[in-house]
Amino acid sequence: MTIRSVISATGSYLPEKIMSNADLERIVDTSDEWIVQRSGIRNRHISNDTETAGYMATKAAQKALEMAGMDASDIDGIIVATTTADRTFPSVAVQVQHAIGAPVGVAFDVQAVCSGFVYALSVADSMMKTGMLKRVLVIGAERMSSILNWEDRTTCVLFGDGAGAVVLEAQEGKGDKTDRGIHGSVLKANGKYQDILYTDGGVSTTKASGHIVMQGKEVFKRAVGYLSEVVEDVLAVCDLEQPDIDWLIPHQANIRIIESAAKKLGVSMDRVVVTLENHGNTSAASIPLALDDANRSGKIQKGEVLLFEALGGGITWGAILLRF
Ligand code: UT7
Repeated sequence: MTIRSVISATGSYLPEKIMSNADLERIVDTSDEWIVQRSGIRNRHISNDTETAGYMATKAAQKALEMAGMDASDIDGIIVATTTADRTFPSVAVQVQHAIGAPVGVAFDVQAVCSGFVYALSVADSMMKTGMLKRVLVIGAERMSSILNWEDRTTCVLFGDGAGAVVLEAQEGKGDKTDRGIHGSVLKANGKYQDILYTDGGVSTTKASGHIVMQGKEVFKRAVGYLSEVVEDVLAVCDLEQPDIDWLIPHQANIRIIESAAKKLGVSMDRVVVTLENHGNTSAASIPLALDDANRSGKIQKGEVLLFEALGGGITWGAILLRF
């Protein structure tokens, strides 16, 4: 018997306030034309003080549970990918556990910045395969606006806030390509590049979170190279081939990175889920936000093969292949 971790439902939350490129033109020396040409972003959601990472994670989790037709009492694990937790501790995961009324179980956060959701999903899958967990909420939640330097035009125009969640259920599979669920994942990190994308502070140094600093071009270069490698790796791990992929759901950082990854893979852009234009870069929340959007709009269907890929600060990166 093969245990497969199947995504049985999705949910998401976006703050009400939308900030357009025109709004940013009033804050920093930038233009709608520059932002659209260089990144593909037009709008992003920006949270108010109530809409913390924990609040948004809870809302996204409740929507996923509702879609699954499940009660919080059915859940035995909660894993949250976030870089912008409400407090240094405890985790956002225990906050969600209490807020939704989930019983005593496993709850913890994962910190891999923009790769966080891929990391968290892979960790959840491993724990389900050992039989430790049966029904897990995996959530990506970020309030990136809280760690932006609103005077730095090279970063503040790129990021947004939001949360996305999935319900992951352990199901019995046949062990072949037709099984629904996660077929494999590849996770990577290279700390040599930690200084090309980081915050200029932290609790054990400046005693504050700090703000995002990025050498955009350097990150861009690594993203294009590493993402195409990791996609080949995950296809090999899963014994699947490019034509098996129905949808690419990438981390939403830059349309040029997404187009390059799709081109290298030989997947046409009409098979790529893109929400970047209206979400901006929501770090660990971007893949589950895009997934929920594609699921609720009926774009992706049960039984189709999805490829998730992401790269972020660390540098960390990874990819997951699954049959939805
Ligand atoms: O999610 C985590 C992973 N992150 C990423 O994957 C991000 C990867 N990097 C990128 O997406 C791109 O590098 C950026 C969108 C961040 C920047 O695009 P770029 O084509 O690499 O531009 P650049 O940084 O080389 O800047 C080009 C010019 C510079 O001016 P000079 O030196 O050529 O005179 C910048 O000062 O654009 C200038 N610039 C801006 N101009 C108007 C930088 N930011 C802005 C801005 N508005 N907001």
